[in-house]
Amino acid sequence: MSIVKAFPKLSPEEAVVEIFNGATVAFSGFTNSGAAKAVPRAIAAKAHALHGRGEPFKIRVLTGASSGESIDEPLAEAEAMSYRAPYQSGPKLRGQINRQEVEYVDMHLSHLPQTVLAGFQGKLDFAVVEATEVTPDGRVYLTSSIGASPTYLRVADRVILEVNRYHSRRLREMSDILLLPPVPHRTPIRLNDPLTKIGYPYAIVDPKKVIGIIETDEPDRVPSFAAVDARSERIAQHVLDFLLREMHKGRIPAEFLPLQAGVGNVANGVMAALGSSPEIPPFSMYTEVYQDSLVGLMEQGKLLGASTTSLTVTPEVLMQIYDNMDFFVPRIVLRPQELSNHPGAVRRLGVISMNTALEVDIYGNVNSSHVYGMDIMNGIGGSGEFTRNSYLSIFMCPSIAKGGKISAVVPMCPHIDNNEHSVQIIATDQGLADLRGLGPMQRAQTIIENCAHPAYRDYLHRYVERARVGHIRHDLRTAFELHRNLLKHGAMLPDLDLSGVA
Ligand code: COA
Repeated sequence: MSIVKAFPKLSPEEAVVEIFNGATVAFSGFTNSGAAKAVPRAIAAKAHALHGRGEPFKIRVLTGASSGESIDEPLAEAEAMSYRAPYQSGPKLRGQINRQEVEYVDMHLSHLPQTVLAGFQGKLDFAVVEATEVTPDGRVYLTSSIGASPTYLRVADRVILEVNRYHSRRLREMSDILLLPPVPHRTPIRLNDPLTKIGYPYAIVDPKKVIGIIETDEPDRVPSFAAVDARSERIAQHVLDFLLREMHKGRIPAEFLPLQAGVGNVANGVMAALGSSPEIPPFSMYTEVYQDSLVGLMEQGKLLGASTTSLTVTPEVLMQIYDNMDFFVPRIVLRPQELSNHPGAVRRLGVISMNTALEVDIYGNVNSSHVYGMDIMNGIGGSGEFTRNSYLSIFMCPSIAKGGKISAVVPMCPHIDNNEHSVQIIATDQGLADLRGLGPMQRAQTIIENCAHPAYRDYLHRYVERARVGHIRHDLRTAFELHRNLLKHGAMLPDLDLSGVA
């Protein structure tokens, strides 16, 4: 039976008729990949129309992770959101969150499905999920991301499906979908290799819940990355040298360990450096997003396989994958985010995690989410579940930002999302601090000397000297002096001559 006969075929406008002011709507999408597309636009249009008539209309929005252009930005533009979880990265939505117009819950991404299943997020009124195919008995074959969609399909009261013809129907051959039973009925998750499959190629929905199907033919709106800049290249070189030293010392086995890499320019630079180093053996990845740079590495035989929850690749690169599915299918596994980021799997596999910080403090605490400890940038994403549980946890960032007005190494982070107990290695363009086994004072010396920009080192050393002695030294009067200066004067050290700072 065709999908059209099994479920009503709807226009986007018809599909959103039932979505009401105050509803909680969970969308597919982990980044823009696999994101619902037509329905969010139709909800935004509905919001515009209702607001134009003076009627209230805002919904509570869940996704797998960020989903900027497809979901967050149209809904933010229409002022149609009152609540958002678990991650975002859109400029309009970010502004609304920081003005407290939208309530935002910044969550560990693997926790999300469990919290939804347990009811901690309240009632889920609607799920809107993109699929390549839906069968009359309720098997839903997902597209370029899995994210939290299997959970949303199970929990939501009503379901709208976007069947997107653009995607390869062979994505099901990469998909490995398993919903963990509620506690205390869980058993060990038998993931002993990034490419192990333990689930099914489809998610399940109760057909009685399906409002209807919208047919689309639209690519994911994944933007391309800027070319890797010189600072990211230097950070990448420090990380590469460190990993090689660890390998030569026998602390990374000869067959290497699975890698996790965060998003952005720095992570891209590191992957490029690892890929081009003849000394790094072919490796695998256990990571959250599969990005453009990994396709080339796979084709060269450097990247043997990858476990991920999302093919976050530009449309051209996605076509490259779809055109060569015989090659890519055995090398990529797409899992729900509960498993792609599962702390137990990360620990068991001995993952080496590499994430990006906004700033680090002199003791190794990391802030990757809140500028001044107040304004959200994006969120913690998956960095916490990887950092806390990996075999080697690395954080990277440029030593300065905004032309030197900001130092990424500060006395105390005003917000901490990954702390000194989990962060083992910090790398900046200046060098690398290996914090393993170091006490607080050794950490401070190493981070200041190896990672801080030279223009800020004296200030940081003087901070430590004047600080009150304890297990950790701090001067609570001036711990946030750099941040206060930045807020007040637009620079952390307003008198610093930035002309020579590079
Ligand atoms: N204080 C204030 N602003 C800072 C800053 C600091 N310490 N450090 C950087 N910035 C600014 C930059 O100047 C830039 O501003 P602009 O957009 O006006 O140019 C902005 O923050 C982003 O910095 P950039 O260096 O371009 O960031 P990025 O693309 O490398 O991303 C994070 C860095 C931390 C924002 C990003 O990696 C992130 O959101 N991480 C958390 C989630 C995560 O780790 N996900 C992956 C896990 S699997």
